[in-house]
Amino acid sequence: MKYVFMRLFKNLFSIGKISEPINMSVLGTDMHSHLIPGIDDGSDSLETSIELIKGMKEMGYKKLITTPHIQGEFYQNTPEIILSGLERVKRELKKQNIVMEMEAAAEYLIDDKFEEKYKSGNLLTFGKKHLLIEFSYFNEHPNLKQYLFDLQIEGYKIILAHPERYSYWFRNFRKYEEMKDRGVLFQININSLAGYYSGEVKKMAEKFIDEGMVDLAGSDMHNVFYLEALQKARNEKYLKKLIDSGKLKNAML
Ligand SMILES: [Fe+2]
Repeated sequence: MKYVFMRLFKNLFSIGKISEPINMSVLGTDMHSHLIPGIDDGSDSLETSIELIKGMKEMGYKKLITTPHIQGEFYQNTPEIILSGLERVKRELKKQNIVMEMEAAAEYLIDDKFEEKYKSGNLLTFGKKHLLIEFSYFNEHPNLKQYLFDLQIEGYKIILAHPERYSYWFRNFRKYEEMKDRGVLFQININSLAGYYSGEVKKMAEKFIDEGMVDLAGSDMHNVFYLEALQKARNEKYLKKLIDSGKLKNAML
């Protein structure tokens, strides 16, 4: 009887899990992280950056495109600040003989200051003019559709960061479908699948996978807590389902 209970207990905790952690070399490239020290809410020191990069290398990643925040108010980063920070990280990696291909771009917040940035033409992109954007967590920006239109005319390929985290759209799934219809690529955070943010966010990420709407899987790495959560997320069945879908474009970047 005792063993029956033990097995039941074990099964309860293994629902949605796979026994072997996924080797992230199948993704190859991560295209969303905050690994430049001291310029946003991500890594706070060069030591932390190296620790996080080493951790991601151990999981199998081959290339990291790091994307510090660029916002109108809180993180007023510029391409110059980001690219010189990238050089600092790369120098330290070389010094410590850590092999990891690294690039930098940015995660642009759609806010009132965003328009003047793209109109200046000085946006950081990666891949084939891929641009990572995020929305406010509170409400949809009134000019969103105009901005997307302007960017697409200029040939930018827009990637929406963590669509599963915009709760004001959870009960209006049509909003997401509209984004997909406009050709916006969806990048979910792998940690969302492990319930790192909330049960609701996890469910949304899973729904996007079920609906075949996910184009990219990102770490959104900020600190050691994200690293631990990413370790755990590698055992999620839904991550395997996403990879097996063959839809992910990470390796192309
Ligand atoms: Fe991010």
